[in-house]
Amino acid sequence: MYYFWHPNYHILPDIIQLLPDNIANQIAAGEVIQRPASAVKELLENAIDAGATEIKLIVNDAGKSLIQVIDNGKGMSETDARMSFERHATSKIKNIDDLFRIKTMGFRGEALASIAAVAQVELKTKKENETTGTYIEIDNSVVKKQEPVAMQQGTSIAMKNLFFNVPARRNFLKSNAAELRHIVDEFIRVAMSFPEIFFSLTSNGQEVFHLDKGTLKQRITQILGNNYSSKLVSVQEQTDYMNIYGFVGKPETAKKTRGDQYFFVNNRFIKSAYLNHAMMGAFDEMIAKDSFPMYALFIDLDPSQVDINVHPTKQEIKFEDEKIVYAFVQSAVKHALAQFSITPTLDFELDASIQKLDAVNKPFTEEKKSAAVSSSLYKTFTQKNQAHFIENKNELKHWKDFYEPTTENESKKLEVGSKNSEFKSLTSELIHHIPDLLQLHNTYIVLPNEKGFLVIHQQNAHERILYERFSKAIAGTPVATQQSLFPATFELVPADAVILTELLPDLHLLGYLLEPFGNNTFVIQGTPADVEQGNEKNIIENIIEQYKHFSGDVKFNKREKLLRSAAWQQAIKPGVSLSQSEMKRLVEDLFACTTPNIAPNGRPTYTEFKKSELDKVFGR
Ligand SMILES: Nc1ncnc2c1ncn2[C@@H]1O[C@H](COP(=O)(O)OP(=O)(O)OP(=O)(O)O)[C@@H](O)[C@H]1O
Ligand SMILES: [Mg+2]
Repeated sequence: MYYFWHPNYHILPDIIQLLPDNIANQIAAGEVIQRPASAVKELLENAIDAGATEIKLIVNDAGKSLIQVIDNGKGMSETDARMSFERHATSKIKNIDDLFRIKTMGFRGEALASIAAVAQVELKTKKENETTGTYIEIDNSVVKKQEPVAMQQGTSIAMKNLFFNVPARRNFLKSNAAELRHIVDEFIRVAMSFPEIFFSLTSNGQEVFHLDKGTLKQRITQILGNNYSSKLVSVQEQTDYMNIYGFVGKPETAKKTRGDQYFFVNNRFIKSAYLNHAMMGAFDEMIAKDSFPMYALFIDLDPSQVDINVHPTKQEIKFEDEKIVYAFVQSAVKHALAQFSITPTLDFELDASIQKLDAVNKPFTEEKKSAAVSSSLYKTFTQKNQAHFIENKNELKHWKDFYEPTTENESKKLEVGSKNSEFKSLTSELIHHIPDLLQLHNTYIVLPNEKGFLVIHQQNAHERILYERFSKAIAGTPVATQQSLFPATFELVPADAVILTELLPDLHLLGYLLEPFGNNTFVIQGTPADVEQGNEKNIIENIIEQYKHFSGDVKFNKREKLLRSAAWQQAIKPGVSLSQSEMKRLVEDLFACTTPNIAPNGRPTYTEFKKSELDKVFGR
């Protein structure tokens, strides 16, 4: 107050000001609209809340130039149409109590305001009983035009040139293929949970999805592919507290990657590592350890038992009592699997094993890593890269000392069974110096050394080898391609076709020559020279699956994900029996790597057992 009449008030002003609406909205938009896919999600959800039975999504340039959602829902009056772009303007909640009984997808009244702050928006909307509709054009939160329009009941919102006024954000967007993939993901999540609504997705004039109304089961196969049609097990349990329904894939459909897994709470797609763990527990023993079951599971419970307001995108939620939900999900799925007599013995009791959660993922710790690196063996092998074996004759001698046991008994104990005669017959000079190896459980290779022995995991080791080889290929020495004699054609579900298109150039560097053939179809013209022909389609699908597994991982760029996926796909898996020379080649290649002790996924490739420690165990 004082400054107001002070002669110098203009140089001592108060400094806090309210931000103009468009700037405030732009800031808020940063949370809600991060990329084209977020806008897609918001617009689709609005159409659902409007009670639409038909929803069409149209995008151009992966949503960068156009995102349009057309619905046949209840529409808006002229005043509401205008209001809908105001921040905190919503028809969905009225007071604080409503916040705890939310049945709609939206409730904040922020989405349209955010969208209007970062794009040019054209809205057309008409309510059932009105004769004309309303057309509104908004640019950077400012209404540019408003006029009556003739149209059918429903709403169409087109947003053009996303982030045209926020260049930093626009530049931050990924390639069209990557952004389109995010859009497809969001589209699928929404379409999956409303099978009674027709959805279509048209990208650059081409209809990519056309999902007729139907049952949940039909919707799942429309989206994830017909392979699942006879392989879905229905899950259905009801209690006073919550209902659960949906489908899980039979164990044989489990994939090597996490791709087809969907949880919905009150029809909202959510991400939950916790519930996923419950699911994995239900499948325990029925699927291989490193594989992932398909599921599309819907949990319905009293909205007051969930907090969906913990994240701007509403994809993370908090349950009032998450242990109950965990136990319920797990037992419902166990029950379903048992009913289909997929597993013989099962208890239907609620599982109490929830506490064991931190045992899920034990990463290779820094501590273990440095122990491995400082081990004598690691040093022996890495000092001179692959030439090591022939170069350092002294060490070779130690090797020999060790693997040529002095007595029959010791030889049996160590189970390495090396025989001089077989040894001599080997041709390769390098391989010549590696002792005979033992494969255990078709998974582990036992390699004796001077200090004791190593147990190598064949898949982890091979992934490391391939990963380094592929990195070199991408950096400039492409892997040779072997032309297919009979080029195979295959079709992918649209979402996967988008991914594959994005990967084609890099795949070529890795030796896979594929050509797009229109309509989500591709032709395999060639594969890497050292990959057996005949199974190409599977290989490609596996790579895509694995790639999707990484897709949420922001640590890795596109190439890194591809390298890891291809290495994983091509690596020898547990269960494959290897000949002496194959094992030796593997050992030799492994220790020629720059980082031989860790697989690309961070798991160890081998572990060392010291003879001195064994001696201790046996009191020697
Ligand atoms: N497609 C539509 N059909 C009919 N009404 C709509 C449509 N889209 C938006 N509206 C109206 O505009 C209002 C504002 O929409 P907006 O998405 O900004 O907020 P919201 O859905 O209420 O909450 P949230 O920000 O959580 O999405 C809605 O409450 C609804 O009344
Ligand atoms: Mg909304």
